[in-house]
Amino acid sequence: MMAAILPMGTEVEARETDQAQRVQRLQSIHDRRAYAMENLLSNLNEVGAAAGAVIASPSRSTPDYFYHWVRDAGLVMAALIAEVDDPAWDDATRSQIERHIRAWIAFESRLQETPNRSGGLGEPRFMADGRADDGEWGRPQNDGPALRASAMVAFAWREIWNGRRNEVLRTLYRGELPARTPIKKDLEFVAHHWREASFDIWEEVKGTHFFTRSVQHRALLDGADLAEELGDVDAAKFYRQQAHAIAQDFGEFRDPVRGFTRPTIHQVDGWTHKASGLDVSVLLGAIHGRMRKDSAVYRATELLERDFLQRYPLNAKATLNVARAGLAPAIGRYPEDVYDGVGFAGGNPWFLATHAYAEWHCRTDGLRSSSTGGRELGLRYLERSMHHQGPYGSMSEQYRRTDGYMQGARDLTWSYASFLSAARACL
Ligand code: NOJ
Ligand code: NOJ
Repeated sequence: MMAAILPMGTEVEARETDQAQRVQRLQSIHDRRAYAMENLLSNLNEVGAAAGAVIASPSRSTPDYFYHWVRDAGLVMAALIAEVDDPAWDDATRSQIERHIRAWIAFESRLQETPNRSGGLGEPRFMADGRADDGEWGRPQNDGPALRASAMVAFAWREIWNGRRNEVLRTLYRGELPARTPIKKDLEFVAHHWREASFDIWEEVKGTHFFTRSVQHRALLDGADLAEELGDVDAAKFYRQQAHAIAQDFGEFRDPVRGFTRPTIHQVDGWTHKASGLDVSVLLGAIHGRMRKDSAVYRATELLERDFLQRYPLNAKATLNVARAGLAPAIGRYPEDVYDGVGFAGGNPWFLATHAYAEWHCRTDGLRSSSTGGRELGLRYLERSMHHQGPYGSMSEQYRRTDGYMQGARDLTWSYASFLSAARACL
C-alpha cells in the first residue's frame, strides 16, 4: 500500500544510499588502519629503547610497560610481516617496516644469548635496552619462542622469494646443531620443551595452556616447511612428529561436561582460577595457531561472547543480532578478570580481545548463517573498537566496562597490531 505513493525511483535511491554508506564505512576502517600503522611504528621509534626492541607501550609508570615482551613482539612482527607488501603502504612506510623487522631479528638473536632467570628461551620479557630483567615475574612463558619462530619463518619465506636465500641461511635458519641461528634455536627449544608447564599468555597461571600449545604446534609446522626447503630434512621430520604429538593432546582441553575448550589444564601454580572455564586466549590460540574449524573452540568462543554481552554495563545496548542496529559487544580477557591495567579494581574490555572477535567473525564468514554473524558482525566489532579509540586512532590496553573510556597502558603496541590483522581479515 505504502509503496504505491512513493515516487518512482525511490527504491533505486535507497539502494544508492546503502551503497554510499557501505563505502563510507569501509573507508573509515581504512583510515583507522593507517592510524594504527602510524601509532605502531611510532612505538618502534621510541627513544630510550634499543633498535629492534618492541616496547609493549611507551608508558613508563602506572603501569610501567616500557619492556620488550617476547610474546607481544612476536605478534606485532607477525602483523607487520603480513602488511609489508600491501599496496596500501607507500615506499617510505614499507622500507621503515622492513628496517624494523630486520632490527627485531638482530635484537632477538641477542636476547636468545642473554642469561636470564628462566634459564632458557622462555624468558617472558627484557628491558627495552636488551638487558635481562631480574625482577620477580611469572616465568617461564613458553609461547614466546613459538610466536617468534613463526613470525621469523614468514619473513624467511619472503627473503627466499626475493632471492636472499643466503641471507636466510646466515641470519635466520641453518640446520647445524647446536643451533646458531634464531629460528633453529627456537624450534629446538619448542620441540624439546613443549610438555613443560609454563605461565600463560596473561602471566597469571602456571600450567598447560591451549594458547601456548596451539602456537607451539603452529611454529613446529611452519618451521618444518622451512627446514625442508633448506635441506634440513631430518629436522623437518622431527618437528612434524612433535607437532603431531601436541595435536594429539588437544582433546584434553575439552571440558568433559560442558563440551568447550578450556584455556588451561594441569594448573600447578598462579593466582587466578577461572570457574567459568572461558577465556579469549582460546580464540587467540585458534587464530594465531591458524587452526581448522573446531566445534569445541567455537562453543567456547560463543559462550564467552554472550557472557561479556551480559557482564559489562557498557554492553547494555550492544547486540549480536546483525538484523538489529547497534555495536557488537565489548570483549575482555575472561569473566573473572580483575586486572584493571594498573591495579585490581575489576576487569575491563580489551582492544586486542575485541579485535580477535572481529577477525574471527570475518574469517568464519560463510560458515555461519548471515543472521548470526559473519563479516557484518566482524565489522561491528571493529566499529566497537573504533568507538572507544582516542583522537588519531589511539588505543590503550583496555577501555572501561562502565563508560568505555580508555584505561591501562596507553598506546599498547599489541592493540595496534591486532587492529591491523583484524582489518586485514575484514576489508
Ligand atoms: C601484569 C600482567 O601482564 C597482567 O596480565 C596481569 O593480570 C597483572 N600483571 C597482574 O599480575
Ligand atoms: C599484560 C598482558 O596480560 C600480557 O599478555 C602482555 O604480554 C603484557 N601485558 C604486555 O603487553
